[in-house]
Amino acid sequence: MSHHELPTLEVLIAPFVPGCEELALSLLELPQPHVPAGLVQPAGQDLLTAMCRDQLASGGKRLRALLTPALVTAANGPVDAARVFGAAVELIHNGTLVHDDIQDGDTLRRGRPTLWTQFGVAQGINAGDALLMGAVAGVLRADVVPLDLRASLGGLLAEALCETIRGQVADLALRDLPQPSLLDVESVHLAKTGPLFSACFVGAVRLLRRGLDAERAAVRLGKEIGLAFQIRDDLLDLLGTKGRGDAGADLREGKPTWPVLVALRDVPGPEADGIRALLRQATQGSPPSDGDVARAVAWVREVGGEATANRHLAETLERARVAANLAFSPDSAVVALALCERLARLDG
Ligand code: IPE
Ligand code: IPE
Ligand code: MG
Ligand code: MG
Ligand code: MG
Repeated sequence: MSHHELPTLEVLIAPFVPGCEELALSLLELPQPHVPAGLVQPAGQDLLTAMCRDQLASGGKRLRALLTPALVTAANGPVDAARVFGAAVELIHNGTLVHDDIQDGDTLRRGRPTLWTQFGVAQGINAGDALLMGAVAGVLRADVVPLDLRASLGGLLAEALCETIRGQVADLALRDLPQPSLLDVESVHLAKTGPLFSACFVGAVRLLRRGLDAERAAVRLGKEIGLAFQIRDDLLDLLGTKGRGDAGADLREGKPTWPVLVALRDVPGPEADGIRALLRQATQGSPPSDGDVARAVAWVREVGGEATANRHLAETLERARVAANLAFSPDSAVVALALCERLARLDG
């Protein structure tokens, strides 16, 4: 079957969209909540619940919520458990985004004001913490998750979060390096985005009880998808299609991205030196002018940074397809292959 005959990812995950947000929020509810009566919000919710609701209501693609249920259902596995697990991964994803927007100083996400700009940094940290730990606690107490898998799936989530945090630390530390290399950036990409995707795939493998070889392939699949995802994210930033304003927001923040670094490596010269200086200054608190950013973006595209990144994305996705076919039976692999097709397109 050629790639083009696959059902689209959107079609494969659509059945699991309804109710997914409510399910995720239900995992966060403590068995016996204690909220001082004076602090209950007008809508009858406590502030923490209101913040978590607000964050999840901002939407996003919900990929991490829907992948595991789609994979598991395709092979006739336990769908209710898969939905709980996917919801938990989505909660963790959102918790890391809440913290990430504080760390990056970003005021917009998903086209809306970020949580910390509405509730303050301190409460933003609390909301992120609740999303992260609530997800793990939720899976550990979920009745629909087979008892013999609860600790294993809870542990999987906790490990994935620890790895993601390592990636986030490396991401911030990288901005202080005078000359980050392409390899540095790639390893940060892998560390901050791979683990949660790996968790989605490994969770599905465990729920389908496919064994350790499949699990190892699922880890690899998540890594390749994470890499592809970030190269694509970097490309979208370069093209200005991320719903966060103009092209080159990463450059403005002093974030070295894959297409920029590959251009700096392949086409040394005064322009490259100028962009290195611009990145350094941005991390030292003097953001470049809009004109400087626009010129840097145009140069990276002209000298082939965009084209090389596109090729690298295609190669990464090809390795992902190989891993998908090792991790899953053909029925489920279709879901991962459709994800690869989706990531190959750069239309938002
Ligand atoms: C954004 O992930 C954060 C990264 C890992 C780059 P997504 O693009 O999956 O975010 P949402 O959930 O769809 O907004
Ligand atoms: C997203 O990283 C956070 C995690 C992967 C945990 P980025 O900072 O690169 O993503 P955006 O650009 O804010 O979505
Ligand atoms: Mg960010
Ligand atoms: Mg970040
Ligand atoms: Mg990014």
